[in-house]
Amino acid sequence: MAPVIAIRDIADHVGEDVTVRGWVYNKTGKGKLAFVLLRDGTGILNCVAFKPNLDEHEFDRADKATQESSVIVTGTVRKDERAKGIPGGYELDIKTFEVLQATQDYPIGPKEHGTEFLMDNRHLWLRSSRQWAILRIRATIVATLRNWLDSNGYLLVDTPIITPAAGEETTTLFELDYFGEPAYLAQTGQLYNEANMMAFGKVYCFGPTFRAEKSKTRRHLIEFWMLEPEMAFFSLEDLMDTEEQMITAVVQRVLELHRPELELLERDVTKMESIVSPFPRISYDDAIERLKTLREQTDDPEQKELLKIEWGEDFGSPHETALTGLFDRPVFVYHYPSAVKAFYMQPVEGRPEVCRSVDLLAPEGYGEITGGSERIWDAELIDQRVSTIGISRDAYAWYLDLRRFGSVPHAGFGLGLERTVAWICGLQHVRETIPYARMLNRKYP
Ligand code: 4AD
Ligand code: MG
Repeated sequence: MAPVIAIRDIADHVGEDVTVRGWVYNKTGKGKLAFVLLRDGTGILNCVAFKPNLDEHEFDRADKATQESSVIVTGTVRKDERAKGIPGGYELDIKTFEVLQATQDYPIGPKEHGTEFLMDNRHLWLRSSRQWAILRIRATIVATLRNWLDSNGYLLVDTPIITPAAGEETTTLFELDYFGEPAYLAQTGQLYNEANMMAFGKVYCFGPTFRAEKSKTRRHLIEFWMLEPEMAFFSLEDLMDTEEQMITAVVQRVLELHRPELELLERDVTKMESIVSPFPRISYDDAIERLKTLREQTDDPEQKELLKIEWGEDFGSPHETALTGLFDRPVFVYHYPSAVKAFYMQPVEGRPEVCRSVDLLAPEGYGEITGGSERIWDAELIDQRVSTIGISRDAYAWYLDLRRFGSVPHAGFGLGLERTVAWICGLQHVRETIPYARMLNRKYP
C-alpha cells in the first residue's frame, strides 16, 4: 500500500507511489488526459490521469471530478519543472481515484465574485488559495511574535475577556449582563498585564479584544486579536527598541517561510526586504510640521483638504498615509497630545499636554499597527485620571492598588494582529486577515 503523504512533503517522494487525500481545487482535461488540481491544506498538486494507462472507471472518476469533491488519489510522483502547484515542480501520475463525496454546485467558482458574497460564504472561501496563503502567514506571524517573547524573558500570562472596567474609551464598550450586573468584553488586556508585570517582570497576553466601534473602515474590526507586552522598569525608548526587534523578526521569518504565499498574493517583496532596523522615530510635533509641509507642497485641492490638521488633533488615515509615505519602513511617532490618548499614559515631564506614548505606523499607507506608552505610576495622578473615566472607581480599586504596593515605572504596547497581517500580506482590507471577521455589518458566518 502506498503511504499517505502531505503535499508539502512531495519532494521527498519522487519516483514513489503515494496516496494524497484532499479536495478537488480545479479540473481540466483534453481527450485522453484529465488534470486534477488537488489541495490537501498543506499544498496544491497537479494530478494527471492518462486514459490508456488506467482502468476505465478510474479515468472516468478523475475526468468527471467536480470542484471541491473530497477524494483519495494514489499515483506516482514525478518531477517536472513546469508543473504548477505549491510546492511547484511536481506532478502525480494517477493510478487510482476514489471519490468520497461528489460535490455539486459549489458556490465559489473561478469567476469573479463580489466581496460581500465571498464574505457570506467565508466558511467555504477559506479553501481558496489566497485565503490559504493569508491565514498561513497569519499563523507564522503569531508564532514568531510568541517565540520572540518566550525566548527573550517574557512570560505569557492570560488576561480575562469579561471585565468590570474599561481599559480604553468607554464609547466602544460591549456591555454584558453579568448575572444582573454590568460587565464588558475586554478592549485590552493591559490593565491586568500591569498587575501581572508586577508579579513576573516582563509579561504578555495575546487574545481577542473587542471594540463596539461604529467605524466602517478597512482597518477596523469589532473583534480583533491583540498581542500586548508589558514590562517593569521599561522606558519609551526601551519600548521602541523592543517593537523594532519584534517586527523585524516577524518580517524576516515570513520572508524565509512564505515566498510562495507572498507570490500568490502578488506582494511586492522588495518592500518587505527593506524592513530592517533602525526604524525612524519622530515626535508628534515633528509629524505635524511635516504634514504642514506636505500640505503646502501638494497641488491637489482634495489632498490639501484631507491633510488639514492642527496641533492637538489626532491623525486620521490620510495623515498617517502621508507620513508613512516619507519612509520605506515603519515609523514611530511619539509624544502625542495627552488629550487624544488614554487615561493611563504618563505625561511628559514639564510638558503635561503631551504624553509618553508611541504609535508605530506601517508603510504603504497601512497606518497604526501598534500603540503603547509609559504608564502613570504615581498613585495620586492615576487616581485622579481613573475618576475621569466615567465608570465606578470601585471597579478599578485593584488597579489603584498597583500604585500603592511597590509601584514602578513601566511601559507596554499592543500590536493589532490583523493590521499587521494586512500590511505584511499587502491587503486592502483587514476582513481577509482573520478567519471569521466581525464587522459593523457582519457577524455571519
Ligand atoms: O491603540 P490601542 O487602542 O491600544 C490599546 O488598546 C492599549 N491598551 C495597548 C497596550 O498598550 N497594551 O490598540 C492597539 C492596537 C492598534 O495599534 C491597532 O493595531 C489595533 O490594536 N486595533 C485594532 N485593530 C483592528 N480593529 C480595531 N477596531 C482596532 N483597534 C485597535
Ligand atoms: Mg491606538
